[in-house]
Amino acid sequence: MTSHTSPAQIIDGLALSKQLRADVTQRVQALKARGITPGLAVILVGENPASQVYVRNKVKGCEDCGFHSVLEKYDADLTEAALLARIDALNRDPAIHGILVQLPVPKHIDANKVIEAISPAKDVDGFHIASAGALMTGMSGFVPCTPYGCMKMLESIGYDLRGKHAVVIGRSNIVGKPMALLLLQKNATVTICHSATRDLKALTLQADVIVAAVGKRNVLTADMVKPGAVVLDVGMNRNPEGKLCGDVDFEGVRQVASYITPVPGGVGPMTITMLLVNTLESAERSA
Ligand code: GUN
Repeated sequence: MTSHTSPAQIIDGLALSKQLRADVTQRVQALKARGITPGLAVILVGENPASQVYVRNKVKGCEDCGFHSVLEKYDADLTEAALLARIDALNRDPAIHGILVQLPVPKHIDANKVIEAISPAKDVDGFHIASAGALMTGMSGFVPCTPYGCMKMLESIGYDLRGKHAVVIGRSNIVGKPMALLLLQKNATVTICHSATRDLKALTLQADVIVAAVGKRNVLTADMVKPGAVVLDVGMNRNPEGKLCGDVDFEGVRQVASYITPVPGGVGPMTITMLLVNTLESAERSA
């Protein structure tokens, strides 16, 4: 039991995405009037079912906002050399402003080599070391879409991070590490937790903001959350009934938190929205 009475407010990622995408669509029209259509190339290698859903949603998001988008699907036996050659061609294609290779790639392909082959000017995923370095040092560059979307969600509730304790659970290059840097940039005190963290609950109980980005159900439960904390759920998992769920025990944690993001309809749509924003900004820069 907790003394906290009203359940958390939901941060609606679908509604916020709709608002942001309306602005994107307008800016696309303005660019088109100048003869430029923002273009995104999405490359998928192999048949990972989750990846297939993600890339379909990314391409759909592009179409809805008036982008030019190309989805290139390759069999799982595509060679690394062939993929690198394709990226090289897209780097030089003036109709393409963003290049995204959906991860994971098959084991015989070196993901780092692929990421570093993408021109930093078209690295709308923000995974290139040039983008990561820019984020780390406070220079301008593409910010990875999922943590960027999380920051927009905090902004949407007017949350001031200065002096707050933010706990990030997960240390991936895609989410955890860039998330921590963005929170730090806004003057939060940041703790990064991971699989070797000794007492996760002791740390999350101190947190004003918790970002769960592990990829495992029920990583965060109500007993681990300080009353009034803000909880962002980056997880994308299936429960035993096959239903989409996040890393957070939503029903439990919503009784304790002040704000919480749902899954689905939370961070997921925001990730795609920020991909559109990055691609649009790449096109605007090229203009
Ligand atoms: N796999 C999981 N998330 C992502 C993402 O944001 N971008 C790419 N390219 N692959 C992913």
